[in-house]
Amino acid sequence: MKGIILAGGKATRLYPVTRAVCKQLLPVYDKPMIYYPLSALLLAGIRDILIISSPNVLPRFEELFGDGSSLGIKIYYTEQEEPRGIAESLIIGEEFVGNDKVCLILGDNIFYGDSLSEILQEAASLKDGAVVFGYYVKNPQRYGVIDFNKHCKVTSISEKPKIPKSNWAVTGMYFFDKNAAKIAKSVKPSKRGELEITDVNSAYLKKGKLKVKLLSRGYAWLDTGTHESLIDASVFIKTIEDRQGLKIGCIEEAAYRMGFIGKKQLLNLSKDINTTYGEYLRSLLDER
Ligand code: DAU
Repeated sequence: MKGIILAGGKATRLYPVTRAVCKQLLPVYDKPMIYYPLSALLLAGIRDILIISSPNVLPRFEELFGDGSSLGIKIYYTEQEEPRGIAESLIIGEEFVGNDKVCLILGDNIFYGDSLSEILQEAASLKDGAVVFGYYVKNPQRYGVIDFNKHCKVTSISEKPKIPKSNWAVTGMYFFDKNAAKIAKSVKPSKRGELEITDVNSAYLKKGKLKVKLLSRGYAWLDTGTHESLIDASVFIKTIEDRQGLKIGCIEEAAYRMGFIGKKQLLNLSKDINTTYGEYLRSLLDER
């Protein structure tokens, strides 16, 4: 399975912070925001990853990750000229994905919870169709929202409905079979002029090929779209990391634990990081 991180957009809800700085490079406590979705892909076992972002920002991501070899993975980069919708990333990534399956994750999505890697790996093992995650939120009108019938069967998904039919939002991590790009190409731009990922999910649902996995209340799916939610996410990460002494969204640790790199590479990655982050990486080497 291939991975795509979509990390473009204008992030106007974070103005003026994001006027000159890319949202997905902003810190969420002790690491850049994009580390969180990248670590989720690594934990899903995905090692071929395409980062899609706006032309002016893409070089910053390349500076950060290079070709990915230091993490034992391959990272490629492609531009999205304008933010024409999340589903466009599947079309942009069509050649990269080829005949493979793909996991698309938004560069501002943070997931945390028990056995997350098992859940992600299970989703990544899909044979055909699509898998998305549902998460119970108090403000569903801001998201893609899942509608269920009385037998708890998913009947529809609507993008930012004024009157949501449930509190279950679709998160920004989507697992698709090889048909995703073809389906994205058949989608028409919405009223706001975007190729909606919800329309791709709905197309899978209509064919009876969409599996919705509901994440229970023990999981955190964090939003980073506004000043308030960004600081809340930082405080959340800091609280858990301080309490446990374990990091969340640490790409070097994920690569090490997944066996993509060994001790020597981990030590190398920690070398020029003279902060508690670097200390943490070095401490992993002494773990019994
Ligand atoms: O986070 C989950 C939600 O993400 C889903 O529940 C919705 O169904 C889905 O439409 C999306 O809603 P958002 O309102 O969060 O989408 P937004 O336009 O904010 O884009 C999400 C991220 O993707 C954001 O960091 C910017 C980036 N993006 C977005 C678009 C439309 C791009 O890089 N390119 C784009 O063309």
